[in-house]
Amino acid sequence: MDYIHGYSSRESERLTDQADTLAALVLEGITFPAGHLVLEPGCGVGSQTVHIAAASPAARFVSVDISEASLAAARHRVAGAGLANVSFECADVYELPFPDHAFDAVFVCFLLEHLPRPQAALTELRRVLRESGSITAIEGDHGSAYFHPDSEEAREAIRCLVELQARAGGNALIGRQLHPLLSAAGFRDVHVEPRMVYVDASRPDLVDGFTRRTFTAMVEGVRDQALEQGLMAVERWDRGIADLHRAAAADGTFCYTFFRAIAGR
Ligand SMILES: C[S@@+](CC[C@H](N)C(=O)[O-])C[C@H]1O[C@@H](n2cnc3c(N)ncnc32)[C@H](O)[C@@H]1O
Repeated sequence: MDYIHGYSSRESERLTDQADTLAALVLEGITFPAGHLVLEPGCGVGSQTVHIAAASPAARFVSVDISEASLAAARHRVAGAGLANVSFECADVYELPFPDHAFDAVFVCFLLEHLPRPQAALTELRRVLRESGSITAIEGDHGSAYFHPDSEEAREAIRCLVELQARAGGNALIGRQLHPLLSAAGFRDVHVEPRMVYVDASRPDLVDGFTRRTFTAMVEGVRDQALEQGLMAVERWDRGIADLHRAAAADGTFCYTFFRAIAGR
């Protein structure tokens, strides 16, 4: 598949930095009752899996991904965390190898943004949920990034990522669409909570973990594609990236909003 961020070890590290940095913010309060069976599609290298499985030790998780290599890394990570309540399977979210109503809950994070047909995926996820089941969906929205000092080149570099993700069939602006997408897929009582990350020098963990190692690293990761596809001249690109790093300086600030949706089947 055309997964925009690729499967390099650097990207795996970035996903883990992202999950660890954001766990308190985006995963806050997400727990599943004892005995519940939870499906996590697009689990990747297990960066979120370790957090959700640790928070609900008496629930059982089935985490699936389309990439065998990512699943191997996820298995390793989960075993390393000493968690025994997760099983893994290679599966495509559009055609899940599970019967109707098999799960009590679905947890999906940073997958829909990469799918050409997010609504079809949600319809398939709804199929495998039991009648009173629920879905939790978390996505970012790169249109929500703003920072100080402001920079036209930095904004242009972010737009390159949005454009490249669109060319690969995804949608980096999907956070703002969670409510309509879930509603159109048939979910009810859809409730979307925006979760804003605000970073300044008084929060050094976020300066490093979010501004530098999550967001800027993600934009930097598409440098070759952006330049090869002629989306930006190299000097402007380098300036844009330098300006994103500049927002992580002692007098810089950075804002980004994640969207967390919870809905019933
Ligand atoms: C950005 S990663 C997110 C991983 C993880 N949820 C996290 O938040 O760290 C997206 C993952 O979705 C997987 N993926 C993409 N298309 C898929 C599909 N059709 N079915 C299942 N997984 C898919 C990719 O292989 C990748 O591991």
